[in-house]
Amino acid sequence: MDSKNEPEESLDTTSAGADSTTTAVPMEDTNPSSSTESRQTSLTEPGLLPGETVVKEGKAAILFPSANEVFYNPVQEFNRDLTCAVITEFAREQLAQRGVRILVPGEKDRVVVQLSEEKNGTVDQEASEQPENEPQKEEEGDEKDYITASVGERCEQGLRVLEGLAASGLRSVRFALEVPGLKNITANDYSAKAAALIARNAQHNNVSHILQASQRDASMVMYEARGRKERYDVIDLDPYGSPSPFLDAAVQAVSEGGLLCITCTDMAVMAGNSGETCYSKYGSVSIKSKYCHEMALRIILHSLDQRAAVYQRYIEPLLSVSVDFYIRVFVRVKTGQSVVKNSASKQALLYNCVGCGAFHLQRMGKKMSQGKHMKYSAATGPPVGPNCEHCGQRHQLGGPVWAEPIHDNYICSEGSGCRFREPHPF
Ligand SMILES: C[S@@+](CC[C@H](N)C(=O)[O-])C[C@H]1O[C@@H](n2cnc3c(N)ncnc32)[C@H](O)[C@@H]1O
Ligand SMILES: [Zn+2]
Repeated sequence: MDSKNEPEESLDTTSAGADSTTTAVPMEDTNPSSSTESRQTSLTEPGLLPGETVVKEGKAAILFPSANEVFYNPVQEFNRDLTCAVITEFAREQLAQRGVRILVPGEKDRVVVQLSEEKNGTVDQEASEQPENEPQKEEEGDEKDYITASVGERCEQGLRVLEGLAASGLRSVRFALEVPGLKNITANDYSAKAAALIARNAQHNNVSHILQASQRDASMVMYEARGRKERYDVIDLDPYGSPSPFLDAAVQAVSEGGLLCITCTDMAVMAGNSGETCYSKYGSVSIKSKYCHEMALRIILHSLDQRAAVYQRYIEPLLSVSVDFYIRVFVRVKTGQSVVKNSASKQALLYNCVGCGAFHLQRMGKKMSQGKHMKYSAATGPPVGPNCEHCGQRHQLGGPVWAEPIHDNYICSEGSGCRFREPHPF
């Protein structure tokens, strides 16, 4: 991404940004007794405790203690739908490397390929013509042995998932019922009430063989999982407000190439209403601008990469979206000293003209090739003079922000065949 002079242009035109669509119910509709096509409630289901109600979302039927308590947030339904879809794609690719093929309900079987094979153009195109999830007949001489993993089954080679802030357990129950190829899910919440509810919901949905409730501080669960063998393949953090207190533990507790799924709902701070608070939480100053939602995404990505770098790790964004009042990012975390050396040159300060909104980026570092080696040095600048070249007004300084792509083009492409490209994936 290079700096732009056009005030109307987005930082990255591929970003979902402020224009992204959502299926969410309006904010004020937080009463679990309201119903949509995918969600009905029942007050008469057998086995309910007095005052309990059931909310249906996706494949889950979740018990909530009372129709009056705001335990269920329907506005985040899209967040949970999207997360099931992203983890499914992640499982498809990760488990292929472990000799496992996932069976996704409603999807035609296809040969699982490594991302690198697809990029090299070596995909077997015939593979996508199999009937829906029927066990495949192997051709004689087909040398590739694989095992299959279906939703709701525990898969020994499957992914280990942590939902750090699980509330009722709705999200984790949906993972158990909708994402194939999982070994186990730890649904954690420090509230005793929440942990008891998670356990009940696991039972009610018959997923206790995959889903365990835990009542701990989320940071402690993650710090204790830093050892290579204990790490989680997927960590989902969906807090009230900012996830910043949990990020240091999260970048350490996720496995090599593992997936972090992070929500931020502190949009006032991240979109420029309180730049100094944003700096204290994310190490980046937010500014009010037309591109504030994309800037918020780039701020959380900056913060994640910076914290990962402390441990010689770095991020690769898979998907970054701004929806309603929150943002959500999905990133892989990998380890590599040489890539981490490049971290500074992936971040940029941002000069924003207060008059016309034109902006310029100032990278924090510079990378140059020297024969077979790379050389890293301080960046040179600034890219602007004291006054805007278009309107003569002064500049504000924001950032640093993540100045690299915010999506993985492959996972968002038609070629990946991924479910969130389809018209009705959920
Ligand atoms: C927004 S809710 C989670 C919603 C849930 N992810 C979903 O999709 O339904 C946040 C939850 O985080 C829990 N929480 C807050 N701080 C925590 C901490 N340090 N450790 C564990 N849980 C925490 C709260 O009790 C609350 O239930
Ligand atoms: Zn200007």
